[in-house]
Order: sequence, then C-alpha cells, then structure tokens
Amino acid sequence: MKEKIEDILKQVREFQANNKEALEEFRITFLSKKGVIPGLFADFKSVAPELRKEMGMLLNELKNTVQEKVEEQLQKFESQNSNDAGFDMSMPANEMRGGRHPLSIVRRDINEIFEHLGFTIAEGPEIEDDYHVFTALNFALDHPARDMQDTFFIQKDPNENKPTDILLRTHTSSVQVRAMEKKQPPIRIIAPGRVFRNEAISARAHCIFHQIEGLYIDEGVSFADLKQTLYHFVQEFFGEGTKVRFRPSYFPFTETSAEMDISCNICGGKGCNICKHTGWVEILGCGMCDPNILIASGIDPEKYTGFAFGMGVERIAMLKYGINDLRLFFENDLRFLEQFELA
Ligand code: PHE
Repeated sequence: MKEKIEDILKQVREFQANNKEALEEFRITFLSKKGVIPGLFADFKSVAPELRKEMGMLLNELKNTVQEKVEEQLQKFESQNSNDAGFDMSMPANEMRGGRHPLSIVRRDINEIFEHLGFTIAEGPEIEDDYHVFTALNFALDHPARDMQDTFFIQKDPNENKPTDILLRTHTSSVQVRAMEKKQPPIRIIAPGRVFRNEAISARAHCIFHQIEGLYIDEGVSFADLKQTLYHFVQEFFGEGTKVRFRPSYFPFTETSAEMDISCNICGGKGCNICKHTGWVEILGCGMCDPNILIASGIDPEKYTGFAFGMGVERIAMLKYGINDLRLFFENDLRFLEQFELA
C-alpha cells in the first residue's frame, strides 16, 4: 500500500490541468465520495497496527497535496480569465468623465501665454533648504519669513528640538536660484508649483497654495521689458483693455521692486468687495534681479541684467472666475468642480 500511495503522490505533484474541465475531472477522481482518496482511507482500516502511524501520515499528505493542487490550478484559471475577459483594457473610454480643476486650467493657460513668449517650464523641489529659499535670495538672517511662525521647518528627528535648515518652500523663487545655478544666461523660465506657509486657513489664506515664478536674464534686459511682458500677459489672460498699474514695493532679491495691480475684472473697476472698492487688485510681485543675487549664483551683473516675477495662482483663479473663498479650491466639492470645463 505504501508504494501505491507514493506512486499516486508523485502523479498528483506532477499534474497540470490544461483546462477547467480537466481539473474538475482530477478533483472527482481523487476527492469525490467514490474517489481514490476515500478508497484509500477505507483500505486503511485493514492496515496492520504497527504500520498505521506511518500509513496515516502518508495518506494525509496525499489528501492535502491533492487539495492544494486543486486550489492552485483553480487560481491559475481564474487569473487567466480576468486577463482575457474579452475586452482590451488599454482601449480609451468612449466618453471622458471628469474635468480639470480650476487651478489646473489657470496654470495651463498662464504657462501657455509665457511659452509663446519663449519661456520654458522649470521645476524645483517642494522640500527645500534654507539656502535656496532665503540665503541665496538675500533674505537677512533676522528676516521674519525665516521665523517658525511663517515657515514650516522639517525636523529630521521629531524628538530632537534642534533648528534645521530643511523646510517647505514658501515661494517658487527658490527655482530662480536653481535655474541660475544650472545655466548661464540667456535664462527664460517660468516655474509653476506648490508653496507652503504656516498660516491659519480662511477665505483669504491657506497653508498650501500655488505660485508661478518667472525669470528672464540676458544682456540688456530692462524694466521696460518687464512691464511689456507682464502687460502682454494680462491682456492675453484677462482680456484686451484690462488696465495695469505698478506700485513700488520691496523684495530682498529684486531692486527695483514693484507690485502689479490690474483693474478689477469683477466690477469692471467700479468698486466691489473683491477689490475692496478701490477698482484695483494686486496680482503679482516683480522686479529687476538684484545684482547680488546674480553674483551669488555666478552670473556677471556687469554683463547681464534680468527681471523676475511671482504670482499666486489661486488669487488669479479667484479673479478670473469670481470665486470669493480660497477654501473651495481644496475641498473637492463636486458642486464646485462641475462648473469648470471638462478635460
Ligand atoms: N516670491 C515673492 C513672493 O512670494 C514674489 C516675487 C517673485 C517677487 C519674483 C519678486 C520677484 O511674495
């Protein structure tokens, strides 16, 4: 009997079913009431007592092996089945579902306008170091932006309360630095991306938002070029006839610095809540690259000049669509999202 069982065991181990029917036949042959295994268990009753232990173990092994084999082969057929269920999973759907997020629409449209002017898209990391976000951009050591209150710092070990120079970038201006490090002028980039500030969330502020940075460095770039470029952008994006004005401002990395306002396109300049009844809304900060910034990144300020600008994507989307609460962009409420164009 021992040899017989070992023989069957060997056959079972080698068995491969070609199809489900063959597998079913195999199962019936061995496991059905009148099958091989119940038959062997019946024979077992007449085995001599001294051989029972060994025989019992062998029989159980056979039974388990058959059961495992059936399971294993069944799974093989099932996974094959789901792969050729009669349809091509790579085929595109008939009807596109879903749409673009308003921030994606605005970012895409802004990118396109600058790409037509010869700007290319640049990127940099969201987790940055102090050097690229602040130091290389001329932020004084005691500048308030370096404060924990304004910037999220990353502690490598949360148990250690040590100051760290790894942080979430607070503006996309860090990508300016990375672009200047990489390449000598002419440099003409825009850098869209997420930025982070340690602010309480409200209708007007969020701890995560998006900016688009621009940088243009070449021989003979002037403030007139800056104004013309941004004027062109506004006409393209907000429509012909939108007015712009520049107000003097301060940024550590630009000199001369300005903020640019556009005539409020919600009330047409008459005065409303969005423009706080002034008829103007600020949309970006800009300026001529401070010579110190160029030097810090190895660019000769005697030979090259440049301008930079940075705008908030949410702010611009709010103006474009007349949205009055910043939080709507982050809540993914379908009633809001469905109002925007499909993909
Ligand atoms: N990085 C500035 C900000 O976040 C904006 C800016 C960019 C200003 C480029 C000047 C030049 O406020």
